[in-house]
Amino acid sequence: MRASENHYFYLRRSCTRPMEEGLPPSGYRWSLWKPSGISIAPRGFPLFPFAIWSAFHYLHVFFNRDYQLLLIHHGAQLVHRSVITPGYFRFPFMHRDDLQVGDTWTDDGHRGKGLATFALKQIASLDVCVGRSLWYLVEEANTSSMRVAEKAGFSCVARGTRGSRFGLRLFGAFHIDERFQPRC
Ligand SMILES: CC(C)(COP(=O)(O)OP(=O)(O)OC[C@H]1O[C@@H](n2cnc3c(N)ncnc32)[C@H](O)[C@@H]1OP(=O)(O)O)[C@@H](O)C(=O)NCCC(=O)NCCS
Repeated sequence: MRASENHYFYLRRSCTRPMEEGLPPSGYRWSLWKPSGISIAPRGFPLFPFAIWSAFHYLHVFFNRDYQLLLIHHGAQLVHRSVITPGYFRFPFMHRDDLQVGDTWTDDGHRGKGLATFALKQIASLDVCVGRSLWYLVEEANTSSMRVAEKAGFSCVARGTRGSRFGLRLFGAFHIDERFQPRC
């Protein structure tokens, strides 16, 4: 079937101890950011969409309290982010305790150095993740992203479609059309 921006692979892994990857590649440092008080987006980030995710956190739209971002810096420069979100109305297949890694991005000049793979492995070994399921959704055509997830221990468990709501993809729910045993 033709790859389309509306068709996604759904990957999942369980989060385990011990920590799989303690240190990022040399020269990089990582941190976690969570909304706190009036801090609703990491410094330098646009309010859209990050203020919306913080609003979902504060208003209990998210199914649990564990929304956060993993950030990687090189010197003062932000070179990677991965957004950890609980389920909410757009992801009806996620259980209450599940988490998802999304909006994963590495700066062009720092790609291919293992930063995204490190971030996903690190997230899977965070205290908050252990014992829970972690999801990663990727457009079918995004082979780099698929490769990152597989290197970080995710398995492809389903294929599905992103719908739209009020004519906007941003609000569209992700549905599972086909489940795989055990891989895509
Ligand atoms: C997908 C993405 C996050 C990967 O980030 P990364 O830090 O380069 O990832 P890694 O270094 O861990 O590399 C993983 C894979 O990316 C691919 N890759 C390697 N160098 C690359 C480069 N210079 N440019 C693009 N992709 C590259 C390879 O397939 C690599 O696997 P391999 O080393 O086994 O060959 C990054 O390409 C990106 O930000 N893309 C645009 C946003 C996006 O698509 N996000 C994913 C949404 S689901």
